[in-house]
Amino acid sequence: MDGVTIINHPLVQHKLTLMRDKNRSTKGFRQLLNEIGMLLAYEVTRDLPLEMVEVETPLEKTMQPTIASKKLVFAPILRAGVGFLDGMLTLVPSARVAHIGLYRDPETLTAVEYYFKAPSDIADRLVIVLDPMLATANSAIAAVDRLKERGVKDLRFVCLLAAPEGIKNFRAHHPDVPIWTVAVDSHLNDHGYIVPGLGDAGDRMYGTK
Ligand code: PRP
Ligand code: URA
Repeated sequence: MDGVTIINHPLVQHKLTLMRDKNRSTKGFRQLLNEIGMLLAYEVTRDLPLEMVEVETPLEKTMQPTIASKKLVFAPILRAGVGFLDGMLTLVPSARVAHIGLYRDPETLTAVEYYFKAPSDIADRLVIVLDPMLATANSAIAAVDRLKERGVKDLRFVCLLAAPEGIKNFRAHHPDVPIWTVAVDSHLNDHGYIVPGLGDAGDRMYGTK
């Protein structure tokens, strides 16, 4: 699939299977999402450009690689995207964070924005949008629309589960934004839920159902 990277590392695949189990506790679900967040941070930053800098070891001065360019931004879509955030920040502690508050209207499945707070210089940075679920993609498209309005040009989208319909819709709106996902499931049901999926990620994370 053009523009889509499937992360098939055995640890990530194993943890996702544990998360799908409807009997997984809220605590277990949240912990697994956090652990997967850390592993996905490793994958999505794999090709960041490096530059050589001078460092003085106890023995001599030497030129060694360091990440080039400004600190990146993690942009979780509330609520469920926050589940990835701590794990990602564990690996990239100096990253900035943009919070994007969106919920999906249960009738129309359109995204409704209720909060947006981002670093003032976000346009100069690589922004990695986080949301475990890419279903219709309406939420992801609205989040990226908003970030592009703020001048962001360098974007990536990371999720846990995607529906084929969501990937198609997202790529049609934002062909310049690559997607990283752990799995692509079968389809969406009549209520816009991913099948087989894992249910409502936000509710399972926070125990709100
Ligand atoms: C869920 C999920 C995504 C969205 C995906 O959020 O976390 O943001 O649905 O669906 P879509 O691709 O069809 O837009 P939800 O609206 O349930 O809000 P919540 O995270 O606050 O529970
Ligand atoms: N949002 C979720 O949390 N789960 C789905 O399957 C679809 C949208």
